[in-house]
Amino acid sequence: MTTATQGGTEPGSAATGRERVLTGVKPTGNLHLGNYFGAIKPAIELSHAPGNEVIFMCVDWHGLTNRAHMKESGTYTYSLLATYLALGFRLEGNAIILQSDFPQILEVAWMLACVTNLGLLERAHAYKDAIQSGKDPTCGLFYYPVLMASDILTFDAAIVPVGRDQLQHLEYAADMAGYFNALAGTEVFRKPKPVVQQVPLLVGTDGQRKMGKSYNDIPLFGPAKDIEKRIKGITTDARGLDDPKDPDTCAVFQILSSFAREERIHDMRERLLRGTGYGYGHAKNDLIDAHRETFGAHQEAYEHYLRSPDEMRRLLEPGRLRATELAKTVCSRARDALGLKTLKTLKPS
Ligand code: TRP
Repeated sequence: MTTATQGGTEPGSAATGRERVLTGVKPTGNLHLGNYFGAIKPAIELSHAPGNEVIFMCVDWHGLTNRAHMKESGTYTYSLLATYLALGFRLEGNAIILQSDFPQILEVAWMLACVTNLGLLERAHAYKDAIQSGKDPTCGLFYYPVLMASDILTFDAAIVPVGRDQLQHLEYAADMAGYFNALAGTEVFRKPKPVVQQVPLLVGTDGQRKMGKSYNDIPLFGPAKDIEKRIKGITTDARGLDDPKDPDTCAVFQILSSFAREERIHDMRERLLRGTGYGYGHAKNDLIDAHRETFGAHQEAYEHYLRSPDEMRRLLEPGRLRATELAKTVCSRARDALGLKTLKTLKPS
């Protein structure tokens, strides 16, 4: 196999010498502590680690796959971007981008679809689940793994940190890169490395199911009264004020552990175990304080960004420009490998 190296267009982050990390989040609702713990905090930490170039992408096209909620993707995009900024995602050398700003992703997705067997997509968990539960899946849902593979391959991502549930999608992305490279006879796409995040799922305020639904989540930002009400409503067991309590089965403690400072976590753990004079009401008050301490400081910045679209645009524009150059380069590499022409470059083959 030959490699398609043409003056700096080879796969990888050769220009910066840093590993390119890509993460994607769907804008499908108001962000809550489960999102913070599972996706936002890790991405922000990565953006501060030297040696990485982090592209955070709001995957609004992926947010369209549920027909009943198609308009939500556009609705939640802005607040998603504002949240990452307010919580301190470092833009220098990194980028926050919006998937639908990049038509190259759709073009690359089509090229990938044309080298991928139907059977591969038929084996995809999300699609199989939809069929099994009697849903009537759209072509969009079926195509979801191709679009996600394209997100990753169009930006030559080296590393994609995901939860366990997304592992199959990453394997598919590597498979599709392989099919394409083999057929094109050149190393057009770089195979991404999955990094599986070992974060356990965060329990919701019902103490049962994972946090993620409006009935069991705790938002990151919003009126203090609302957040307090949600925390006070966390389901706990019947142990009384002076009984020793088990932190490992206590939702208040689990939720605190997902974001608070070490000291606070240690403190609540000790108090629950000891029990005496420390009831669930006290624990909830401590959780309210911890929430205020961690997110209250950023609430003003968040509200500021919500009011300042021009400033957001100005901050995000350099990243968008760099990512556009990259997406164009990779997309051209794929087109060239197949010998596709445009009217501008038209010449007899
Ligand atoms: N499928 C991912 C999820 O549901 C979202 C996603 C889309 C993504 N494109 C991506 C994640 C690219 C990482 C990289 O969480």
